[in-house]
Formats: sequence, C-alpha cells, structure tokens
Amino acid sequence: MCGIVAYIGQREAYPVVIKGLKRLEYRGYDSAGVALYGKEGLQVYKKKGKVAELEDFVAGKDVNAHIGIGHTRWATHGEPSDRNSHPHRSQDGKLAMVHNGIIENYMQLKQELINQGHTFSSDTDTEVLVHFIGEIKNSNGYSTEEAVRVALKRVVGAYVIVIIDEDDPGTLVAARKGSPLVIGVGKGEHFLASDASPIVEYTKEVVYVNDYEIAIIRKDELILKNIANEIQSPYIQKLDIELAAIEKGGYDHFMVKEIFEQPQTIYDSLRGRLDAKKGTLTMGGIREYASLLKEARRIIIVACGTSWHAGLIAEYIIEELCRIPVEVEYASEFRYRNPVVGKGDVIIAVSQSGETADTLVAMESAKEKGAIILGVCNVVGSSIARLSHAGAYTHAGPEIGVASTKAFTAQLAVLTLIALKVAEEKGSITQQRFQYLLDELDSISEKVAATLKLDDQVKRIAHKYKDARDFLFLGRGYNFPIALEGALKLKEISYIHAEGYPAAEMKHGPIALVDENLPVVFVATRDSNYEKIVSNIQEIKARKGKVIAIVTEGDTSIRSMADDLIEVPAADELVAPIISVIPLQLLAYHIGVAKGFDVDKPRNLAKSVTVE
Ligand code: F6R
Repeated sequence: MCGIVAYIGQREAYPVVIKGLKRLEYRGYDSAGVALYGKEGLQVYKKKGKVAELEDFVAGKDVNAHIGIGHTRWATHGEPSDRNSHPHRSQDGKLAMVHNGIIENYMQLKQELINQGHTFSSDTDTEVLVHFIGEIKNSNGYSTEEAVRVALKRVVGAYVIVIIDEDDPGTLVAARKGSPLVIGVGKGEHFLASDASPIVEYTKEVVYVNDYEIAIIRKDELILKNIANEIQSPYIQKLDIELAAIEKGGYDHFMVKEIFEQPQTIYDSLRGRLDAKKGTLTMGGIREYASLLKEARRIIIVACGTSWHAGLIAEYIIEELCRIPVEVEYASEFRYRNPVVGKGDVIIAVSQSGETADTLVAMESAKEKGAIILGVCNVVGSSIARLSHAGAYTHAGPEIGVASTKAFTAQLAVLTLIALKVAEEKGSITQQRFQYLLDELDSISEKVAATLKLDDQVKRIAHKYKDARDFLFLGRGYNFPIALEGALKLKEISYIHAEGYPAAEMKHGPIALVDENLPVVFVATRDSNYEKIVSNIQEIKARKGKVIAIVTEGDTSIRSMADDLIEVPAADELVAPIISVIPLQLLAYHIGVAKGFDVDKPRNLAKSVTVE
C-alpha cells in the first residue's frame, strides 16, 4: 500500500511520474503528490483524492523537470487530506521525500525534534522522518546519503523512501526495509517504483533493492550500499511482463478483464508442471523440499483475506490427499499469539502480492523457530518469495484490480499441485486417483471458460438483487471457503453487508437473519455433501429466503427450490471450487458496477497491504 514512483534522466519527469502513479493507484488512492526539481527549484504539488485530481490541480503550473518523485497514498497516520499527502519536506524545505510503510517510533522522534524547535504541518510519520533526516544532515554537515544511513539506524518500522535534495538535484537517494522497491535501468536514465508496472514500458532491466540497502541514483549511475556503507553490486534482472498485461485491453475494468483471463492464467499456473498425458507432475520449486514435506509433522498455512480462503481449501485437499495435519492461520493472529511451531513444521505462506506485512512477519517468526517456509506467490521477486526456503509461483500475471480474482484461482491450482506432489512422494494416493486428478486439473481451464459464458445470466441476477441490504453465502466442504470468498468479494466491491458460513452452521445463529428480503447464495455443486446442502436450502426456503444456487449442470433437485439457478460444469469436488467461485466473482462485479462504484478501486482498500 502506497505507491512510489521516481525518475531521473533526459525525459520530462512529470509525465513519467504521473503515468507511473496511475499504474500504482491500486496501492492506495487517498491522495497523490509529486516533487520536481526544475528552473524554479524544488516544487511540491499534492492533493487529496486520486491521481486525476492531482493532474487537474497541477494543470497550468510549471512542471518542467528531469528529476521527480511521486506518491499515491493509502492513509495510515493522519486522515486523507492535502496536508497529509506526500511528498513531505524537511524543516528547511530542502529535502522532499515520499514514503511507503510505517515508522513505528515516530512519536518519540517527533518529540525529540519538537524539543529542537521543529514544527510540523501534517499528522504523518513521514514528515517526522524527513525532518529527522534533514536535522542529522544539517547538524553534522552530512550528505543526504550519509544522513539517511544514520537516521535509518534509529528508525523502527517498515519503509521505502525516495528523496530529492535541492542542494544536489542530480541525485535521488532511496532506501528500503520491508516495503518493495524496484529500480529500472535505462540508457542515461533510471526509474524507481513500488513494482515493475510503471517501469515496463521504458526498460526491461531492473534491480530489486533488498532490505537495509540504500541506493544513490544519478541519471547514468546506480550505487547500492548496505546500511554499513559497503558497496553492493546491483543484480540486474530481466522483467518478463509485457505492457499489455497491465492495461485494460478493451475491458471496462481491470477486475472483469482479470476474471475473464482466468482460463489462460489457470492454464499458465499448470503449464510446465502438469503433464496429464504422461501422468507426470513436476514441481521444480519445491523439489529439494519434497521429502521434508512428506515427513512434515504438520503444515501451517498462513495468509490473509482471499489468500487465506485459498489456504482453507488447501487444508481440505492436503489432509485428504497427504494425510498430514494442516492448520490455516490468519497471518496477523499467528504472529502475535506465541504459537507452538518449530522443527518438523512446514509453513506455506500464500500471497498474491508477496508483500503483505502480516504474512511476512508470520513467516519471519516461524523461520526463526526452525520451521521450513514455502511461498506460494504471484509476484516474482517479491519479499515473501525471497524470504521462503522454496516455493511455487502462481503465474497469474499482474493483478491490478484491488479485489483478487485470477490470483485466487491460480493459488488454488498451485496448492492442489503441491498437495498432489506430496501425496505422490508419500505414496498416500493411488496411481489411479493421481491420474484422475491430473486429468481433472488438465480440463479445468476449459470448464472455467464455459462458466464465463454465464456472464449475461449472472448480470441479470445481479440487477435483480443489487438493492438488497444483506447477503448470506453458504457452502459445505470444499465449497465453504468459496462461500466466504463470495461474501468478501461482494462486501469489497458493492459495500453490501455479506456473510459467509458453512451451510450447516447457519442454523446455529445466522438463520435468524432470514426473511423474504434476504438473498442467500448457496454453493451447492454435486459433491459428498450434496444431500446435506439440499436440506439446508429447504430450511432457507421454509423461512421465505431468496435462494440463488450455484449447482452442477443438469441438477434437477435444486431447480424447484431455487429462485435463481446457475449451472456450472461438473468437476471432482477437490477442484470444483476453481469453477464455483467464478459466478460469485461476476455477481460481485456486476452488482458493484450497477451501483455505480469504482470496482477497481473500492473505498478504503489497497492492493498490497504493507502495514501490520
Ligand atoms: C481481497 C483481497 C485481499 C487480499 C489480502 C492478502 O479481494 O485481495 O483480501 O487477498 O490483502 O493479500 P496478498 O494475497 O497479496 O497477501
């Protein structure tokens, strides 16, 4: 959360920075700002609201500059407002800084600075940090780089910072701990950003800055140092994303583009791993750990939000196929409750962004206690991927819509592959069932494509129920986490209150909500719980609830009970969630659009949650 962009080189910096901020807006859109060094010296323009509002504000002002930094904010300290927007300046105004992260000891630093006569014009921790750096610089006669190094030794928290210094306008100084920073290396120019999306159209050569590194960037020079002032050699990597992957490509929103990409993204997550014809499964990323995994005394899956839902489904699959006990933990809770974890435990961290702070700290603490850490991430080179001993990328491509869709189905595909691999190694699955599940996975992309053809029908259902005040989502077994995911998607996108429950749990409380105004979405595909969920549907009907049922094609039993029926292709219950979630993603999308909301940037949310 919070997006950072910076540029230094021969081009006009402002358009590069603004375009980059628009690409990063999914990381936060409470306010936006830029600092540019041009003929008039160091100028800072910032505004509450989205990047478009900043552009309106800047129109007609002098933006000629070849060095600039920009920021799009997800508010942590201080409400969204012009004055809390980044960049912030040092007390003497000479430094302008953008920051992504949280400075935990900012109150203490602020008090020290107030005692030294500093005054502040915002409520942010960022302004405290740039004042602190400026103070160290001025009182010791240090360069900005030296001042940053000294200051960061005192700082507790997570950060990426980028600074322009009016006294040295040919240099950007950046530093990272805990939040992501990518540097694009061009010819006589450099680009900095929170992820590669603002960079990809200019250069494919990038350097991922590591924790505790400070970068000194000039147009034709990039110096990386660690916090002990030792030079580090930058490791230049080639980006493998294309510009088309981060543009809407004719769709109205990224969310619907990403929903419709799923046949391809699921295929990509399986490609090179699964060969159903040969009956083989290769998981290169976990090869070295396969024997440890099969002997694990326990697997703990840590994740947040939608990724946590993928973890819940993986729990059922791994226990079923591998007979290894699995626990699924909210990363934020796991970290702070002194869990019993150690040697012999395997942690699987599931994350789209690979930057979620709660998941990262949970992994760090389990790693310290001796557990093996596997990462299932979408973003290549992300912090979670780098902290893991081993893992598997989900290969869903850049996910821009704030609500996760294609990353979720890719996570399910990859977690299923991991379970199958471990079961094969362990011998806990018969050859026949192994081959059958490989075949089921092999045909899943086609079935997802067939499910997407239901879009018009789901849209009609969305319009019918868009004014409901509440929704209930119910499922059993492998489809229970899909009910949770359906409710989460609807809440995020349409701001309708929605709850997900195991269908049987409904009678232990939530049934009190049911009346003729309550739409209840049942995920009731044919599986081992089918007869039981049919009874649950009857219980809702008896109380006049409106039933929207996701069922397997050809189902006749539920037809007579449901107000609306969505028929999806048949699949084995282990892989069926990859299909049954599709209508729920579409339902949330169409309700959000029908209500006139910005579905790609739902209020208060950010894509990459880099604060705990
Ligand atoms: C919901 C959503 C979030 C994320 C959660 C974890 O649509 O996107 O709930 O799933 O913030 O993010 P990652 O997967 O990046 O760790």
